[in-house]
Amino acid sequence: SGMALTLSVEVLPKAVRDFQPEWGIVLGSGLGSLVEEVDAILSLPYEEITGMPVSTAPGHAGRFVFGRLAGCRVMMAQGRVHLYEGRTADEVTAAVRFMENIGVRRLLLTNAAGTLNPKFEPGSWMMLNDHLNLTGTSPLLGAPNFADMSAVYSPELRVRFATAAGEEGLVLHEGVYAGLLGPQYETPAEVRMLRMLGADAVGMSTVLEAIQARALKMEIAAFSCLTNWAAGLGTKPLSHEEVIETGRVASAQMLRILTRGLAG
Ligand code: 6GU
Repeated sequence: SGMALTLSVEVLPKAVRDFQPEWGIVLGSGLGSLVEEVDAILSLPYEEITGMPVSTAPGHAGRFVFGRLAGCRVMMAQGRVHLYEGRTADEVTAAVRFMENIGVRRLLLTNAAGTLNPKFEPGSWMMLNDHLNLTGTSPLLGAPNFADMSAVYSPELRVRFATAAGEEGLVLHEGVYAGLLGPQYETPAEVRMLRMLGADAVGMSTVLEAIQARALKMEIAAFSCLTNWAAGLGTKPLSHEEVIETGRVASAQMLRILTRGLAG
């Protein structure tokens, strides 16, 4: 829409503006407990920021938390809004522009996703090496920005976090994430389609934020918590509660990968 939400650092107390976070971390469904691991200096509710959309979905708080993780200055976004809530691509990516505006150059995106790859078990993590944007929209609409998407997910950061996971003795798969509109889960026919397209995981977030961040020349790494088999691949029907609970357990693993990756 040419009317892109612009959020200004002026809303921040001087102490936070001077803090200059190096890393931005967006926390997905069930992964919000990671904020408790940060030595926080400030929590800023989205409501207090003009133009910042607030989520209505369960499992999503809405605030930025500034602090240190593994000695690094980080800014976490706990809670995001989704297209399936009826939000625009512009609104979904407002937090990314806000972080960039503050000076964040490295962005870590996390999400809960369904696994499409028979070798990627529920409960494990997948680092994105690419994505399929199947949402039908883009945060870059309006501005003619033909941004290069040939390496959305930083090869350097991928090596860094793959190494960190290995050193922690944790499995970290790598694969392609398909981002869909939702909010319904996929049919078995759609799951077969996604596998044919080369997707390893499927979810309803992340791709638009990654596109926005890449257009701003940020360095990006993204991680999917594989909470369940996509429809037709598992035995049980999908539930939102199951997705949230598996995310809680797996967030302990991600904390170890992030902590070592940031330190390294
Ligand atoms: Cl199976 N599909 C989608 N679209 N999103 C998910 C999911 C599945 N599991 C967790 N999030």
